[in-house]
Amino acid sequence: MPGLFVAFEGVDGAGKSTQTQRLHARLTAQGYDVTLLREPGSTELGDYLRAYLVDGRPLTSPAELLLFEAARAELMSTVIVPKLASGGVVIADRFAGSTVAYQGHGRRMDLAHIFWLNDFATQKRYPDLTILLDVDPETGLGRVRQRQIGQGLDPAETVNRFEDEALRFHRAVRSGFLEEAKRNPGRWLRIDGSRAADDIAAEIWDAVMRLVA
Ligand code: TYD
Repeated sequence: MPGLFVAFEGVDGAGKSTQTQRLHARLTAQGYDVTLLREPGSTELGDYLRAYLVDGRPLTSPAELLLFEAARAELMSTVIVPKLASGGVVIADRFAGSTVAYQGHGRRMDLAHIFWLNDFATQKRYPDLTILLDVDPETGLGRVRQRQIGQGLDPAETVNRFEDEALRFHRAVRSGFLEEAKRNPGRWLRIDGSRAADDIAAEIWDAVMRLVA
């Protein structure tokens, strides 16, 4: 089987970690060679940049954009391209679509620059399927807060750079994702992320199986 690349996108709290883990577990149980990654991260440089990118230290929008792209370029060259070349399945928790949505629509950085940088960082090897878990930002951010409280954390002290943004920002991010899904109808699948996790997992499984069949 040629390599398969599946990415998950959505606003904070859309349910990506639950669904990426479920897909990873089910594919692994069926004998596939699967690698689960998250962006930014999953390389030494990516983890280093992630720490700076998500906390509240000073960072201008152009630098923020370039750091996300640097993390992606490193991950692409050192992990994703080799894994796909050896016939593996790669599942990414966020990918290039997040930059379009957060830095493009959220921060209002020039989209033409972002598309160019995404092409450069990804070597134009985009996911075979991008699953957009679509929830409204109120629902997503509410889930993030509940999760933090469940872990005994104080939400006021644990919000990251992006969760701390106004609702207006997150609404722009969501509409950016929806626009990307419309722009790439063959390669993006929008799923209503407010449905039961089991139903969502079943829909994702069917979509992935259609690609490997
Ligand atoms: P995420 O892993 O979803 O957050 P968490 O640690 O809470 O699970 O991603 C970290 C943040 O980075 C998230 O708020 C979205 C943001 N982000 C961008 O702004 N641009 C990007 O290109 C990527 C990959 C993430």
